[in-house]
Amino acid sequence: MSVDEVGIKIGGRYELIQDVASGGMATVWRAAVHGAAGFTRVVALKRIREDLRGLPHIVDMFVEEARVGAALRHPNVVQVHDFGVDENGDHYLVTEWVQGIHLGDYAQSYEVRGEKAPFEIVTAMAIGVLRALSAAHTRMEVGKPAPILHRDVTPQNILLDENGVVKLADFGLARAMDRDRMTSPDIVKGKLSYMAPELTRGGLPTARSDLFSLGVVMWETIAGQRLFDGLSDAEVYQMLQAPKVPMLSMKRPDIPLSLAMQIHRALETDPAKRFQSAQEMLTELLKDQRRLPEPVDAPDISQSVREAIRRLRASKTPEAARLANEAAKNAVPKALAVPAFSNSPASRPDVSRQAAPSAKSKTPGAARVSSKGGARGSAPPPPLPGSGSSERSQSVPPRPNKK
Ligand SMILES: Nc1ncnc2c1ncn2[C@@H]1O[C@H](COP(=O)(O)OP(=O)(O)OP(=O)(O)O)[C@@H](O)[C@H]1O
Ligand SMILES: [Mg+2]
Repeated sequence: MSVDEVGIKIGGRYELIQDVASGGMATVWRAAVHGAAGFTRVVALKRIREDLRGLPHIVDMFVEEARVGAALRHPNVVQVHDFGVDENGDHYLVTEWVQGIHLGDYAQSYEVRGEKAPFEIVTAMAIGVLRALSAAHTRMEVGKPAPILHRDVTPQNILLDENGVVKLADFGLARAMDRDRMTSPDIVKGKLSYMAPELTRGGLPTARSDLFSLGVVMWETIAGQRLFDGLSDAEVYQMLQAPKVPMLSMKRPDIPLSLAMQIHRALETDPAKRFQSAQEMLTELLKDQRRLPEPVDAPDISQSVREAIRRLRASKTPEAARLANEAAKNAVPKALAVPAFSNSPASRPDVSRQAAPSAKSKTPGAARVSSKGGARGSAPPPPLPGSGSSERSQSVPPRPNKK
């Protein structure tokens, strides 16, 4: 087994520049491929985590991820460039590099300030995800339907390019391996809370289960708190047996009722009551976007993502760390706190009475809520996947919903 470190070349071509982050199965590196006359292209290079290399089912999953990912080409899908085996027999997957942050970081950039994300931007981001899902779900191969389901729509897999393009990463987790993912706590941790309820009961993934996951992502990003948040996966599993979704309009009175209703429709427990296709949900969200006083476009997403990156950087200053520590000291220990998911009104933080941003405001920070309003609390800032080597190498504790 090879040991990955900065400077080494993988497959004789890809120079590792920086260890960006580790997910459930893999470690993502920023890497460079060099050509003639000083030509250099930055790519993302994914490696199976060193502790998991050699496990045949993990290798199978990785191969499947590459195979399926390579079958998709869409502006809102992270493009797979290459897949190979290095001199030590270890696999690597090369994809386009997305210079930016993931949606979990974006949401956290508001949480660290006790603010909430602008719903217009979140909706525009969801529209990008739906375009990717729609293309994947309706994919054809030699004239026959050959749909690809994502199965892992989570904030970490929604990458936000600094130029305002939304890219869905990691299509293609191996079908046969789903059961392993479910039973391996190391791998599934944090992912269960985005899984459609029917999947926890052994149902097969469908387009509608991907839409449920996107519904969870949208609900959380707009509400500024976790939806199915338990002390353990067992607790989340229990919640998903009869999911209760608090009304989003209560958390965010500023959002149009029709938008809240679309998100709740994606979150219906019964798949038959959800949108029947990504295209259907996309059409409805586009209608919502058109009703806004000002259109939201890539430049608005770009500006919002860049501002989020600046907020995350600012939250890394010693003063911000001190404030975060203070807040953590004053926070109710999680074990003593009322579970975040409870339908009893008395147990929920009353976010609805807090000042809310105007529907017009696309500027971050329009809504200020108590720092306890966000269930992820005052966690230290995450790494900044797109923000250059010096920052990325400063590792900070992972977000609670990371594996
Ligand atoms: N193409 C890319 N460009 C830039 N950053 C990326 C790219 N792919 C992944 N990342 C970053 O690396 C992190 C880890 O990715 P990885 O896919 O291994 O784990 P994950 O998304 O957290 O979980 P999962 O295993 O379910 O996909 C991502 O959250 C993202 O911040
Ligand atoms: Mg991922």
